[in-house]
Amino acid sequence: MKQKNSAPHRHQIQEFAPGTINSADTITTDDAQNIHQPVLLQQCIDLMLPVLQKDNAIIVDGTLGLAGHAQAFLHAASSFHLIGIDQDEEALALATQRLDEFHDRFTPVHSSFGHFTQVIRNLGYQKIDAVFLDLGLSSLQIDEKDRGFSYLIDEPLDMRMDTSKVTTAADILLTYSEKDLVRIFRDYGQERWAQKIAHAIVTDRVIQPFTTTTQLAHLVDYVIPRKNRPAGNPAKRVFQALRIEVNGELDQLRSVLPQIALHLNVGGRIVIESYHSLEDTIVKHFFTSGSRVDVPRGIPEIPPELQPYFKDITHGALKADQNEVDTNPRSRSVRLRAIELVKEIPLKERNKMKHSLHAEGMVE
Ligand SMILES: C[S@@+](CC[C@H](N)C(=O)[O-])C[C@H]1O[C@@H](n2cnc3c(N)ncnc32)[C@H](O)[C@@H]1O
Repeated sequence: MKQKNSAPHRHQIQEFAPGTINSADTITTDDAQNIHQPVLLQQCIDLMLPVLQKDNAIIVDGTLGLAGHAQAFLHAASSFHLIGIDQDEEALALATQRLDEFHDRFTPVHSSFGHFTQVIRNLGYQKIDAVFLDLGLSSLQIDEKDRGFSYLIDEPLDMRMDTSKVTTAADILLTYSEKDLVRIFRDYGQERWAQKIAHAIVTDRVIQPFTTTTQLAHLVDYVIPRKNRPAGNPAKRVFQALRIEVNGELDQLRSVLPQIALHLNVGGRIVIESYHSLEDTIVKHFFTSGSRVDVPRGIPEIPPELQPYFKDITHGALKADQNEVDTNPRSRSVRLRAIELVKEIPLKERNKMKHSLHAEGMVE
């Protein structure tokens, strides 16, 4: 059953993390429209539409960004309420301006989607009808000066999506042990030269700490042997690994999935766009765990309690076609997956999900 209290006042951004909202006074909403091109937009609308059209549905965009997808959803149907979460204050301020015409159907929230349960409960909801996640960075974050995400621009090594958080990429390079640096470069960057790069960082940082993107990019370029280099910029994998570590991206994703499932109405949908295999594997495993039957072969009839509770509506992952890749290079690596909750999640599975959240310190 849907439980709803009064929606927060228009444009009152809900804060669940310390920090203030920046006024987005240097970038206009027209710019926002051009800065970030939403990936697989029509496919996302089609997957969300049946839920958007439900009367008074509650929809969460957990990665609002510049609201490209959110704006299209709001145009596509007229009676749902959208909660838009982003941990980047500047993106949230721009998105809020962009969605001004929908002010009474939209609640912006500054938080990580990892605090999903807390966010929706603080707004007075117990159940929601759909969640959309478009993971990773927006083009604003990549291109903007001083965010430190790009190995192509010389800027401070920051990489925080939420600038109210304390630890930057420079802090990690200065304080992590060599072993931990190897782990993150290997696990999050799948970097073959993780050991050599980590060793060089730990040796060099004694003389001069790594504070800029260029310093790090030069070191990686120096350390990785020129022959047999994989295609693309050699610093790409190390930058990806650091970004994932700074923002706890995989932990947030692992934690949000059971939280969403536990608050989803039957008939509700989860639609997720991932941009690298580490994210996509987490999503795929979670979706598969609820959409496959785990019974011994040869059982004549599957008991109702063992029937799947998720239906895989994308039948695996959708990708962008060549046309979209040519016009929007960000779409090259996208994997879009969606499921529908077709029945209540069995108690045993709910308890398993709650237990995993408890173990991570996320109370359910
Ligand atoms: C790819 S962009 C979303 C773009 C958006 N769909 C659009 O069309 O404009 C991803 C956004 O998610 C935000 N984000 C990433 N991880 C997050 C998290 N754990 N919690 C909240 N926001 C997050 C980023 O700050 C970024 O603004």
